Formats: sequence, structure tokens, C-alpha cells
Amino acid sequence: MIRTILTYPNPELKKKSAPVTIITDKIRELARDMAETMYDAPGVGLAAPQIGVHQRVIVIDVSPKDEPPNLIVAINPEIVHAEGDSYEEEGCLSVPRYAANVRRHAKVVVKALDLEGEEVTFQVDGLLAIAFQHEIDHLDGTLFVDHLSPLKKDIFRKKYRHMVEEARVGA
Ligand code: NI
Repeated sequence: MIRTILTYPNPELKKKSAPVTIITDKIRELARDMAETMYDAPGVGLAAPQIGVHQRVIVIDVSPKDEPPNLIVAINPEIVHAEGDSYEEEGCLSVPRYAANVRRHAKVVVKALDLEGEEVTFQVDGLLAIAFQHEIDHLDGTLFVDHLSPLKKDIFRKKYRHMVEEARVGA
């Protein structure tokens, strides 16, 4: 089922998500819905709080459009190692029509559980490393725009308020 994606400045996006203690059918259904919602958007990642569920579940698929899907579902993901620097442009389904460069680690090692409850380790770089950091941030109530410099963030806020108002007038 496609769920509604909450958008900035919805306060639900600022809340910290709780770890998943037992992987129930409900969690499996949540992961399925999240993947469906992400592909429909379309986007390369989605975290549960973006659909108003404050549980530590993320889905990611950064595979190019002309290649078969490669869905990653990570439960309770945790960055256990990070190195290098990256400064790439990011966007977010919860911050539509806005993109900005964000400082991240270039490589990360992420530990998580899969849908069977097995521990999995992802050793990733490039777009996938950025996606993991971006989605894990969501679980802690952090949006990519929170990483902007105070000046850039101020410009973003003003610009975004203006855009939201324009969209409302247009609707
Ligand atoms: Ni996002």
C-alpha cells in the first residue's frame, strides 16, 4: 500500500524513532509499504518516520533506472565505521523541489537486521553510502537541510516558505 509521505516542516519528521524489538508481520508489511511508496514517488530511499511511523526501518534502492531493482531493507541500522569526505547534492522526498550539497562520509560500514532478523553488514561508498547516512539521519529526526550552514539554512527556510505558499495558491 502506498503511504502518504510527510513533508517539511511537519513536526513528525523531527522525532526520534525507536528500535524494532521483534520483527513481526506488521514490520514486514511496513517495509513492503515503504518500498512501494519509495518506488512510486520515485525516490532512492525512505525512512519509516517519513510516513509517520517512528520505528528504525529504512529502505534504499540506488540502482540505475535501466537496471533491475536492488532493494535494501535495513532494520535498526547503525553506522559502525565511517571514513573519508564527500560533498554531493542531495534531495529528499520530504523536502520536495529542493536540493543542496551536504557533507557526508565517503565510506561507511552499516550493521542492521534484515527482515528475517539476521544481522547484515553493508560496506558501502558512493551514492549508497550517502543514502544510508541520509536515511539513518531521518531515524534521529534529522533532515539533510539540518546539515546546511546557518546562512544557507536561513535562505532555505525563507525560500521554502515562499514555495509552499505559492503551491498553496496554485492548488
Ligand atoms: Ni530524506
